[in-house]
Amino acid sequence: MGAVGVTDSLLAEGLARIAEEIDGAFDALLPVPDDARAKLVEAMRYAAIGGGKRLRPLLLAAVAEMYGVQREAAIRAGVAIEAIHVYSLIHDDLPCMDDDALRHGKPTLHLAFDEATAVLAGDSLHAFAFEVLADTATSPDPFTQIELVRTLGHASGAQGMAGGQMMDLVAETSEFDLQTVTRLQQLKTGALLGAAVEMGAILGRVQPEGRSHLRGYARDIGLAFQIADDLIDHEGDAAVAGKAVGKDAVAGKETFVSLLGPDRAREQARMLVEQAVDQLAQHGREADLLRAVARYIIERDH
Ligand code: IPE
Ligand code: IPE
Ligand code: MG
Ligand code: MG
Ligand code: MG
Repeated sequence: MGAVGVTDSLLAEGLARIAEEIDGAFDALLPVPDDARAKLVEAMRYAAIGGGKRLRPLLLAAVAEMYGVQREAAIRAGVAIEAIHVYSLIHDDLPCMDDDALRHGKPTLHLAFDEATAVLAGDSLHAFAFEVLADTATSPDPFTQIELVRTLGHASGAQGMAGGQMMDLVAETSEFDLQTVTRLQQLKTGALLGAAVEMGAILGRVQPEGRSHLRGYARDIGLAFQIADDLIDHEGDAAVAGKAVGKDAVAGKETFVSLLGPDRAREQARMLVEQAVDQLAQHGREADLLRAVARYIIERDH
């Protein structure tokens, strides 16, 4: 098998393994109570189990493995970041935001349940994430717990994902330039991808000065990831993507694709991925999964 084949199977195995582990962890950590809260936890499970690519946990676990972290700790931190991601998608799909009917190939949570339950399921997954991190099973070291909580908190709120979502809504009615759209995407999507890489390094006790190349890698793949998402929206297939497409143009949203056109946007994404791979030059084979993830990010169709 050639080098490309090896990298492909590394990625395929990595994706399959993390999907199974994250599904298993959500299943174990979210038992349905035998009372009137059952509907809430059923809704959390509906959104969290099955479906997603689990890219954030995959990135976190790949970095953690480079630094010899126990798999169970990496999976717990991966579940936490995925819980934030899933909550962000539940709220993103609500009628007051993108008003979408399809997610992961099935009806969105507010349609499968109802809007109030979808809001509460998002709230609960948000809280659940920090509860999982601040637990000795994730790390026995309180400093590591706090650093994980702080990093994920920063990446989730106004300085990260939620801030980017606000800018994204404003982008429907404003003329944003490329610099502003770049900032928007760094917050909306890049912040959580960056946190995934950072949290792997935190678990691995990598000192902040030893993380800068990983931050560079995360920044580059974060932008490339969102360009790929915008391209899927522009030219993808809803049946393959598992979500509605063609929505950004209808909403009049400024994206990399609207500003650069699809060809230049694709070229930009390719350049960012090569740059991301270059950031890993100091690592040997142990970083091959991160290299494969970077390439997958722009080759994906869902
Ligand atoms: C989609 O993210 C939403 C964005 C942040 C652009 P993913 O492509 O990672 O979502 P999954 O894999 O369906 O969970
Ligand atoms: C959502 O971006 C990003 C989040 C923070 C949830 P999009 O609105 O482009 O994501 P999709 O296309 O619905 O998955
Ligand atoms: Mg949106
Ligand atoms: Mg959306
Ligand atoms: Mg999109």
